[in-house]
Amino acid sequence: MAGDRQPMRTVNFGVVGCGLMGREFASAVARWCHLADPPAWPRIVAVCGRGDQGLDWFRKRWPGLGQITREYRELMANPEVEAVYMALPHHLHAEVCCAALEAGKHLMAEKPLGMDLRAYEAIRACAVRHPDRLVRCASQWVFIPAVQRIGLAIERGAFGRIIEVNAGFLHSSDLDPEKPINWKRRVELNGEYGVMGDLGMHSCAVPFRAGWIPRNVRAVLCDIVTERPDVAGGRVPCRTWDNATLLCEAADGAGGQSFPMTLKFQRIAPGQKNTWYLEVLGTRASARYSTREPKRLEWMEYTGGEQIWGCIETGHETAYPTITGVNFEFGFSDAVLQMWAAFLSELAGVVPVRRFAGCATLEEAGLSHRLFTAALESHWRRSVAPVAGGD
Ligand SMILES: NC(=O)c1ccc[n+]([C@@H]2O[C@H](COP(=O)([O-])OP(=O)(O)OC[C@H]3O[C@@H](n4cnc5c(N)ncnc54)[C@H](O)[C@@H]3O)[C@@H](O)[C@H]2O)c1
Repeated sequence: MAGDRQPMRTVNFGVVGCGLMGREFASAVARWCHLADPPAWPRIVAVCGRGDQGLDWFRKRWPGLGQITREYRELMANPEVEAVYMALPHHLHAEVCCAALEAGKHLMAEKPLGMDLRAYEAIRACAVRHPDRLVRCASQWVFIPAVQRIGLAIERGAFGRIIEVNAGFLHSSDLDPEKPINWKRRVELNGEYGVMGDLGMHSCAVPFRAGWIPRNVRAVLCDIVTERPDVAGGRVPCRTWDNATLLCEAADGAGGQSFPMTLKFQRIAPGQKNTWYLEVLGTRASARYSTREPKRLEWMEYTGGEQIWGCIETGHETAYPTITGVNFEFGFSDAVLQMWAAFLSELAGVVPVRRFAGCATLEEAGLSHRLFTAALESHWRRSVAPVAGGD
């Protein structure tokens, strides 16, 4: 009987970081009704930020917020907060993630989940001490319907033996050398990884979930714009890596056959706005996808004879059903909503509907850290560097 249904579980969130991504989360919460049958409902009860702009944004749009603070420790001490979304500059990741876990909160942390391998290890140690807390790393691109289809194809072994994988994320947001410096271009705030910490996890999420593990890497890193204007009108050094190209020897599953996997992360990619792409070439099937053509999935099956690339027009056929008809378009904020649906589902104890419909795990973030650390070593030594744990 309908009247016997359990009330929907509500999860009270505290948001730490009221910038770009903190607001994207708030927007996803505001349109939670878009999901057809969510197993839980998020509620923002507390926010923490430093800049007036971000806090004012929440004040105006979220009247009645229980807690607005500049000190994240106050938010962690709030017993109403059950889960924390950490959307902060990278140098703060370890400190704030650890505080959240030690305070007994579930945690969705923005990538790269720690500024460097050491910071990641600190977060992991806290997570190990609190195994009943859910910890996930934000990366939403896997939830694009065409990428979900690639994931399903991987699950059913449709590609055959993997010949080659190419994945990347290309921006032109730093092409303009007169763009003022911000925290993302400062080594002390963004980290030594530079663009790898910024964009890398987004490209690694699908290959890692597929079990394509980098054994070693030869990386070429480029600092193209070496100084930028600052807010005071002067010029300051800009030492972060703008672009990174990683050629990995990857293995398909533990001890499996090797194949080349190329990962490209670029902040200075002329002509590209926000291009996330993935290409998988296999002996039985191949797939190509890029957000430049967001609906199009290119697909080729090879059974002998002609090789014919086909084109599938994907729509809004999402892992977590929504009220939008399947023929309509899917976009960035839809992917963010899907990612949060996955997180809330897991919190409500629902196993992800598919292997590729879950958020990035602590272990997957850890592998990305080992890869980026090896990439730094490879670049400086101009040689191939092993990826710890990749063998
Ligand atoms: N998933 C994605 O697509 C995506 C996109 C962009 C950024 N990110 C990630 O999200 C995180 C945040 O990036 P962003 O673009 O939202 O940055 P942002 O600069 O827009 O926002 C960061 C916010 O943190 C606040 N802050 C700084 N120090 C603080 C402190 N001590 N306590 C509380 N608040 C503090 C700032 O006031 C600012 O509002 C990063 O990890 C970044 O890599 C993810």
